[in-house]
Amino acid sequence: EVIVVKHLEPFRLSLEKLKVVSTRLRKDMIRGLGKHTHHRAAVKMLPTFVRATPDGTEKGDFLALDLGGTNFRVLHVRVMEEEQKMVKMDSQLCAIPQEIMLGTGEQLFDHIAACLSEFLDSQNLKGQTLPMGFTFSFPCEQKEIDKSILIRWTKGFNCSGVEGEDVVKLLKEAIHRRGDYDISSVAMVNDTVGTMMSCGYRDQTCEIGMIIGTGTNACYMEEMKNVKRVEGEDGQMCINTEWGGFGDDGSLEDILTEFDKVVDRTSINPGVHTFEKMISGMYLGEIVRLVLMKLTEKKLLFKGEVSEALRTKETFETKFISMIEDGLENAKKILTELGLTWDLVDARVVRLVCETISSRSARLCAAALATIVDRIRVNRGLPHLKTTVGVDGTVYKKHPKMQPSMHFLTPDCKIKFLVSEDGSGKGAAMVTAVAQRLLSSLTQSQVYFSVLDI
Ligand code: BGC
Repeated sequence: EVIVVKHLEPFRLSLEKLKVVSTRLRKDMIRGLGKHTHHRAAVKMLPTFVRATPDGTEKGDFLALDLGGTNFRVLHVRVMEEEQKMVKMDSQLCAIPQEIMLGTGEQLFDHIAACLSEFLDSQNLKGQTLPMGFTFSFPCEQKEIDKSILIRWTKGFNCSGVEGEDVVKLLKEAIHRRGDYDISSVAMVNDTVGTMMSCGYRDQTCEIGMIIGTGTNACYMEEMKNVKRVEGEDGQMCINTEWGGFGDDGSLEDILTEFDKVVDRTSINPGVHTFEKMISGMYLGEIVRLVLMKLTEKKLLFKGEVSEALRTKETFETKFISMIEDGLENAKKILTELGLTWDLVDARVVRLVCETISSRSARLCAAALATIVDRIRVNRGLPHLKTTVGVDGTVYKKHPKMQPSMHFLTPDCKIKFLVSEDGSGKGAAMVTAVAQRLLSSLTQSQVYFSVLDI
C-alpha cells in the first residue's frame, strides 16, 4: 500500500498549494472583470444582468425551462408572497438522447419546443403567455437578460450551429417553426444564478450560488463599479464566474496529473474547462478508472489482470465513487460487476483511490469558493463576513466533505451552506419574479431604460 500511496501523491494538495491556487484564481477573476483583459481571460466572469436577490415580496405564476444535463425540464412555478414560498405546480421531464446532444442546434431546439408544447397542452396554458425563465447551464455572453450568446458547449453537448448564436433567438425560431403557441419575455439564467436566487428566497443573506454536478461553476454578487464591461457604477450585479475554465491558459499546469491530461485529451472538448475536469461528475469516474488501470499495470491491483470493462472508457461511473466510499461491501459488488477478480486488499486500495480523487475535487472547490467569499469581504471593506452559499449538484450532495477544509482557507469568513432544492428550475422563475418586482417599483422613464436589464 505504501507504493500505492506514492502513485496517489500528485493528487494530494497541501493547504499551502490550495492557497496558491486561490491566489491565482483571485488574479484571474480580476482579469475576467476587466474591460480590456476579459477577452483573453480563462475565468470569464460573465455579467448576468441580475442586479438584485429576492426580498421576499415577489409573487406570481411563471414558466421555467431547464437545460443543463441529459434532461430538459419544463416547470410551472407559483411564487406566493404571503407564505414566502415557491411552489412547483407541475413539471415535465424530457430526456435528451445522445444523438440530439451531438446533433444540430435545430434538432435540439425543435426537441425543446416540442416538449414545451406538450407541457403547455397538459396544463391548459397555451392561451396564456406567462413570463418565462430559461436556465441554460452553459457559458453564455449575456448581452441583455433576454439575449444570450453561447460561448461554447460543455458537459458532453456538442450541437452544431449554436456556439456564437443567441439561444433565445434559436428557441423562438423553433417555436415559430411549429406555430402552435408563442412565448413572450424570456429571462436567461445560468444554473448557478438559479441556485443562488432560489436559496435567496429562503435566506436573504445568500449571495453566492455554486454547482458541483455534471459540471462545476459558481456565481456571486459583485459591486457594479468593478464590473467594467457594463455601464454604471452603482449597486451590484451577479457575476457568473465560469470557474470551470480556470487553468485553460496553463495556470494549473503544476497540479495537473498525467491522468488529468488523458481525461482532457480524450474528452470532446480538449484544452478547455481544465478546472472542471478535475472536479465534476462528468470526469471523476474516468480519472478513477485511469488510476486503477495504471495501478493494475504496475501489478499493484487485481494481480495485474485488467478486465474488459475496466479497459473501456467511462465504464467506471462517478456514482461508484461515493458508493465505494460508503462501504467496502459496495466496493466488492462494483468490482465484481466490472468483471474484476479482487481480494480484500484490492477493495481497500480502490476505496483509497476513490477517497483521494473525491477529496481533491472537494479541496479544489473549497479553495475556489474561499476566493469568492474573501473577495466579497474585501469589496465591502469588512474585517469579517458572514454569508450563505446556495449549492446544488449530485457530487456536492454525495460528498459534503468540503465544509471542514473551508475554515482554514477563509479564517475571516463564516460560511453557511444551503442545499438548494430544485434550484435551477425554480430559480429561473425567481429571476423573472425579481425582475418584475423591480419593474413595478420603477418610474416610467426608469422602466424604459431597464426593461431588458433587471
Ligand atoms: C458550465 C456552467 C454551468 C456548470 C454547472 C459548466 O460546464 O460551463 O455554465 O454552470 O457546468 O452546470
